[in-house]
Amino acid sequence: MSDQYAVFGNPIGHSKSPMIHARFAAATGQDMTYGAVEPALGGFAASLSAFIAAGGQGCNITAPFKLDAFEAATERRPSAEMAGASNCLMVDGDRIIAENFDGVGLVNDIENNLRCLLAGKRVLLLGAGGATRGVLLPFLGAGPSAITVANRTEAKAVALAAEVAAIGTVTGCGFDGLDGQSFDVVVNGTSGSLDASRPPVPDTVFARGCLAYEMVYGKGLTPFLAQARTAADARLADGVGMLVEQAAEAFVWWRGVRPDTTALIEELRVPLT
Ligand code: ATR
Repeated sequence: MSDQYAVFGNPIGHSKSPMIHARFAAATGQDMTYGAVEPALGGFAASLSAFIAAGGQGCNITAPFKLDAFEAATERRPSAEMAGASNCLMVDGDRIIAENFDGVGLVNDIENNLRCLLAGKRVLLLGAGGATRGVLLPFLGAGPSAITVANRTEAKAVALAAEVAAIGTVTGCGFDGLDGQSFDVVVNGTSGSLDASRPPVPDTVFARGCLAYEMVYGKGLTPFLAQARTAADARLADGVGMLVEQAAEAFVWWRGVRPDTTALIEELRVPLT
């Protein structure tokens, strides 16, 4: 029987992961299947157990189960510990190992695909929820000159900065603490874009020609991206590259083979207009 993988989420019908992993498997000659599982809310643990009992070897996890996946794991890698959430599990006998590849996926997209090296850059991360937590460690590892986390609820940004103080210097503030500052890379990790609002940051945060990155994928020209374009003629990107790159990291972890991502990112890209 082929090795079995799946993505878990609710709802899951919209997920691109089965298609992405099927492409990776075909391109690299891996004998595997990759399905989609929609546990009932509150039913993740039981659903995961059934999947493992039936031979499942690994899974991706999307909303709203990333915290449940973290809890279900018997071991957690540092990126998952930092995020307090997992988007990828690997089964190894009795062990269930939790990873979180969102951050490395985002950094790989910015550095390798968008060719914006983060070393020496001034980075602004908007939001201090799960999305930002999940990407903070890889950003610190990329060596920017400064990282600021700004959030609607200032205390959460300050607390997140304090939490990583032993690893690197991060400044936490509210949106009004951004006055007079400019950044080379601005990443929107707030969930505001899902309801077509934008974080209320001043135009001046966008340095001329900066990279403005919307973590959400497939929403076109969001209010955040529109502001960046108007304010600073920014380069614009959404999370399509992050989506494919985090999938590639999962694939490498499970299968030991790195798939090519370039053509798939182009195929899935939705115009930012
Ligand atoms: P996720 O896992 O998507 O990050 P989350 O952990 O609930 O979800 O975090 C949502 C983030 O988006 C938070 O930083 C939240 O700000 P608060 O901490 O102040 O709640 C931010 N957010 C949500 N809606 C927002 C909006 N309309 N404007 C600005 N920030 C918003």
